[in-house]
Amino acid sequence: MQTVFRGRHFINLEDFTKEEVDTMIEVSLDLKKKFAMGEDTPYLHNKTGFLMFFEQSTRTRNSMEAGMAQLGGHAGFLDSSSMQVAHGETAKDTAIILSRFGHMIACRYCNWGRGNVYLNEMAKWSSVPIMNLQCDLYHPFQALADLMTMKEKIADLRRTKVSIIWAYAESHKKPISVPVSQVLLFPRYGMDVTLAYPEGWELPDWVIAQAKENAEKHGGSLKITHSEAEAYKDADIVIPKSWGNWVTDQTGASVSGATAVIDDALKAQKSWKCTEAKMATASKDVMYMHALPADRNNEVEDAVIDGPHSIVYDAAENRLHTAKAVMTLLVGGK
Ligand code: CP
Repeated sequence: MQTVFRGRHFINLEDFTKEEVDTMIEVSLDLKKKFAMGEDTPYLHNKTGFLMFFEQSTRTRNSMEAGMAQLGGHAGFLDSSSMQVAHGETAKDTAIILSRFGHMIACRYCNWGRGNVYLNEMAKWSSVPIMNLQCDLYHPFQALADLMTMKEKIADLRRTKVSIIWAYAESHKKPISVPVSQVLLFPRYGMDVTLAYPEGWELPDWVIAQAKENAEKHGGSLKITHSEAEAYKDADIVIPKSWGNWVTDQTGASVSGATAVIDDALKAQKSWKCTEAKMATASKDVMYMHALPADRNNEVEDAVIDGPHSIVYDAAENRLHTAKAVMTLLVGGK
């Protein structure tokens, strides 16, 4: 078991070895058990965290805020529009000041071409851990909670067929960070990952190259297809979720965040919806996952997300336990 985490940044799970990710899951499970038993876990007593958001959030904000309180510390919510960042204060100055005030800085900044750059700039100057609450490229807290949930449901994940499937949505042009983080992480656990999307919705080439390298090293596999039918067939876990076609088309990117882009190219893919009929072609015990929020009746039928194969709420709950584990290890810990 790897135990040296204190002071490290949490921007991308690729920065952590598989043994270290295993430790994060073990600590998450331990904290979940203690939470269920009503046992106190004051590992971050008197610690202060800053949660800085450029975009909206339900799960991420509240798992961090509640998690920090349950660990005995305090987390302050910072809406970037009411910070001096909105007047142009730099990532450097923000990181130096906040790290003098407290013990961690977490940030969500999903704007294409800006978010990951901003987080890394903060990491360069901060004297406390920087945590990625989702950027344009990665969503490590989500992928960790997904992995924890999968491990709870399927003891040995090797050879599990997991299909990450693009889905149609109109709510807004979503980041690629969830599928990128999943496609990088799951092959490290020996899973057979199928990535399915309509042409034009590719993930970056370097992501695919890294995911294949991870698969080769850890005994998993990665298959890319443009056929939904192939992705659903005999799948053990399906994750149909929208992501924006950022790699091939930057329309919708703006300083204030991504906007909805409903053009002819998108509308032509409306059939990419998770339906009961498609789920029926998967394995008998197939599980349906989604990071949430789901664009109901565009990405997925209510009958599926509310049906017996859905584990979306279990995965969402695990956002709390994994958030607490990461904060405990990086802010407290050894
Ligand atoms: N899955 C997720 O990150 O949810 P929020 O956008 O509500 O934080």
